[in-house]
Amino acid sequence: MSSTYRISHIQGDGIGPELFASARSVLDVLGECFKISFEFIPAPAGDAVLKASGEALPKSSFSTIRESDVCLKAPVGETALQTIIYLRQQLNLYANIRPAKNYPFIDSRFKGVDLVIVRENTEDLYVSREFDEEEGKKAVGLKIVTEEASRRIARVAFETALSREASRPEKEKGKRGPGVVCVQKANVLPKSDGLFLKSCDIISRNFPSVRYSSMYVDTAAMNLVRNPEAFDVIVTSNMYGDILSDEASQVVGGLGLAPSGNLGDDFAVFEPVHGCAPDIAGKGIANPLSMLFTVKMLLDWLASKRNDPASSAASKCLETSISLVTGAGIKTPDIGGSSRTVEVTDAICNEIRKQSSHMDNGGNLKLKEDVVLSW
Ligand code: IPM
Ligand code: MN
Repeated sequence: MSSTYRISHIQGDGIGPELFASARSVLDVLGECFKISFEFIPAPAGDAVLKASGEALPKSSFSTIRESDVCLKAPVGETALQTIIYLRQQLNLYANIRPAKNYPFIDSRFKGVDLVIVRENTEDLYVSREFDEEEGKKAVGLKIVTEEASRRIARVAFETALSREASRPEKEKGKRGPGVVCVQKANVLPKSDGLFLKSCDIISRNFPSVRYSSMYVDTAAMNLVRNPEAFDVIVTSNMYGDILSDEASQVVGGLGLAPSGNLGDDFAVFEPVHGCAPDIAGKGIANPLSMLFTVKMLLDWLASKRNDPASSAASKCLETSISLVTGAGIKTPDIGGSSRTVEVTDAICNEIRKQSSHMDNGGNLKLKEDVVLSW
């Protein structure tokens, strides 16, 4: 039986529509090849929508998103607070998953980096509670940390560490084992960050097979550019996670590659980590890979939520195809190539068609040894 998914989407501003067009072409081809039907439902939001309608995220878009199976979001401009921050809060998308890993054929200063930042996504300084005092001469911003949200995100981090270990190729398994580092600044913020740390400590006891340690955020920022390959899962609060995820993306080749997922219990919004890059909008040179890796995350999420092997096979096929295409030198200028967004997208679509025809009945790719890649 083939699966059907209703994907609401925000095309966003700047390079957003170009990235979404790429995602859509790729999903259409994956749908054909893996017998998945994707229905795309627009949920207009962002700067242009604010200008045209007076609201950055009109109520109708919000309902469209809420009623869909999953949302794919391209970057918006200056209206992030009213769009993505609002969605994270309203839909209780409490876990922001931000992987950073070295991809074959993409130059980077490091080798062997494969980490994921598990960012608490609903509280901390992002609660938008700021006050002016003393006639604007003083400002106060509240940082809220609760035990419930901290324990909840810690659980996600430990479970992520275990599932990453389980999906490592046989030869990699057990090499260093799964690990979680709790990143905070409890030496300066003993109450708020102290509570976050204590909550992670407590949850760690339920996961004795996961190596667990803690690190102050300044040290973590340093270690991310000193020996990033030592990290597995980083669990941290909202603002530190925001900053460290931009840093981590540069460590493995740049923001043009960085995907993310905002996950709740039953719903998720997937989006690239970067902004809408107005300086290159409309030039046809935006790197579609951040969006396409985001699509891969979306497919993995559908696969696990719906227990759907077709989505899982589609995800593997997409990742392999991206790798083969970048390996053949078809990439955008930001990562050292000279191809255009559309050329990269078309090449990936063709590769998906080719690769999917080499699949066995169980949805596993029958790849030749030389194209079997370890991610
Ligand atoms: C991100 C972005 C957002 C954030 C901005 C656009 C509000 O930087 O998703 O990392 O700070 O969370
Ligand atoms: Mn950010």
